[in-house]
Amino acid sequence: MSDDYEYIEKELEISNLKGVGDVTAKKLKEAGIYTIQDLLLYSPIYISEITGIPVERAEKLVLQGYEYLKDLGLVPKDFTSATELLEQRRARKFIKTGSNNLDDMLKGGIPTQAVTEFYGEFGSGKTQLCHTLAVNVQLPEEDGGLNKSAIYIDTENTFSPDRIIEIALNKKLDPTEVLKNIVVGRPYNTVILLNMVKKLPEIIKKNNVGFIAIDSAVGPFRAEYLGRGRLSERQQLLNRFMHDLLRIAEVYDVAIVITNQVQARPDVMFGDPTRPIGGHVVAHAVTYRIYLKKAKAADLRIASIVDSPEHPPREVLFRITEAGISDP
Ligand SMILES: Nc1ncnc2c1ncn2[C@@H]1O[C@H](COP(=O)(O)OP(=O)(O)OP(=O)(O)O)[C@@H](O)[C@H]1O
Ligand SMILES: [Mg+2]
Repeated sequence: MSDDYEYIEKELEISNLKGVGDVTAKKLKEAGIYTIQDLLLYSPIYISEITGIPVERAEKLVLQGYEYLKDLGLVPKDFTSATELLEQRRARKFIKTGSNNLDDMLKGGIPTQAVTEFYGEFGSGKTQLCHTLAVNVQLPEEDGGLNKSAIYIDTENTFSPDRIIEIALNKKLDPTEVLKNIVVGRPYNTVILLNMVKKLPEIIKKNNVGFIAIDSAVGPFRAEYLGRGRLSERQQLLNRFMHDLLRIAEVYDVAIVITNQVQARPDVMFGDPTRPIGGHVVAHAVTYRIYLKKAKAADLRIASIVDSPEHPPREVLFRITEAGISDP
């Protein structure tokens, strides 16, 4: 880590905010809020809930933190020109998937500062993609990676170190190193999952993380909150979860991929009768949605990008091989 990085880290400590004394700093840190960036991940109401600081005070802190980061040039100004927005866009980096078809469809690969959702039926390749990306992010930039490490949140117990080794060897990488650079979390319920998300900023900074997979992200909520009676509770939690992810992706410049299954739509007579789980909450919170389907050949899959304002509707083919994702 460069001196520059450490300097910025000091600048961002929560105690730098005017009016944050030792007591407040301690309360915030106990709630996992160490830096001014962390503060901006949450709503004032939520900060108040987890720290016991009055809401009005929390509101002031968030605004103050926002101004502080603006002065440092670390968050965009309230109003930005279209040119500046374009520059911000260009600052986004991409992780290559291993399939040129898929990368082309995504205009370069899986972007940082965004949450990309892959949904599809069992065996459609969601987990294979996450494994491949956890390896690819470690490649140097000129080879399509970010030269950074990965976090894999495995809610279905399908993360496979052996598969990582296989993919790494096929890419002529040292499998021991590659495994070392993947932190795996195995939350067995949504409470633990939500708690893990709170800890992400710390791990991102400590491990220089560029990619986070959450495989699967929506499934655990569906499994725990069964029935109509618990639907609104489920959607509220899911909403907070999704928005936390998006803020983390933006603030820490990481690429987040979530996976999701499909469910049958009883109301659809024509066309594809499936849709992703999670309803509007997930649909609105993800930056890009990609639908994966099986093709005729056993190793081929079809990917299509759904409802994107910046990508034309299109279907592409990719392959699942020993080396991970590739072109047919
Ligand atoms: N080592 C490998 N080499 C080549 N292909 C593999 C390998 N391992 C798995 N596959 C392929 O990947 C498919 C499984 O895909 P994957 O596990 O990513 O599905 P998924 O979309 O995550 O499904 P689910 O919804 O059940 O989690 C297998 O059917 C197989 O075709
Ligand atoms: Mg899977």
